[in-house]
Amino acid sequence: MLNSIGLQNPGVEYFMEYDLPWLKTQNVAIIVNACGSTIEDYVELCKVLNKADIDGVELNLSCPNVKAGCLAFGTTYEGVKEVTSQVRKVLDKPLIVKLTPNVTDITLPAKGAENAGADAVSLINTLLGMSININTRKPHLANNTGGLSGPCVKPVAVRMVYQVSQAVNIPILGMGGIINGDDAIEFMLAGASAVSIGAGNFIDPYTSVNTVKGIEEYMKKHNIENINDIVGKVEMN
Ligand SMILES: Cc1cc2nc3c(=O)[nH]c(=O)nc-3n(C[C@H](O)[C@H](O)[C@H](O)COP(=O)(O)O)c2cc1C
Repeated sequence: MLNSIGLQNPGVEYFMEYDLPWLKTQNVAIIVNACGSTIEDYVELCKVLNKADIDGVELNLSCPNVKAGCLAFGTTYEGVKEVTSQVRKVLDKPLIVKLTPNVTDITLPAKGAENAGADAVSLINTLLGMSININTRKPHLANNTGGLSGPCVKPVAVRMVYQVSQAVNIPILGMGGIINGDDAIEFMLAGASAVSIGAGNFIDPYTSVNTVKGIEEYMKKHNIENINDIVGKVEMN
């Protein structure tokens, strides 16, 4: 999938008043993905979220579709460290920093997050992509470029999860192209303690449920009692 939906949404006050009460009835952990255009935006947003009845915050430092803003912070060690440390001062809840794959060395922003007090990192966000209509000669997306995700990005994501797992000591939430249990296991072997699914939900809304079943089948087949036992257990050639 190549998307350019941006991050438009009704805002944190609306979320707290209307979306959160419904989410609270669903008996799930609630982690809010937060994004801004400036460091002050992130800090103000997290001050509000700190008082909300939620389980944690994931800072989106990596969206490629916002003109000014998060991608600019997310690509360097210093940028990630700065925004994470400012947010850490106002947020007592678990803080996950989401990293962009649009960098040469993903371990640097990952270390920036860890050194600024993040509790975990999540990766990968979408890869910057472009597609052209050969008849009109115009890009298919109105924004010209967009974020690439789904099964085609999985090898990039698995590689980056592995690299980050070798570089930091905080847990990794892995994502990028997961559509079944086998994919999820691959991420866990690479070093992810947990996984998440984006584009796969557009192929089949039951992808997450089926992925959990697939993980359980793999555990039975390989006599694994505790899923944590496989985290980071890839055996490199
Ligand atoms: C339609 C769409 C919207 C997304 N919106 C967000 C977002 O608001 N915040 C964010 O951090 N990542 C966002 N992502 C990125 C995904 O969370 C995920 O990191 C990425 O797509 C790779 O995983 P996947 O291949 O399972 O989709 C979005 C992805 C898609 C496809």
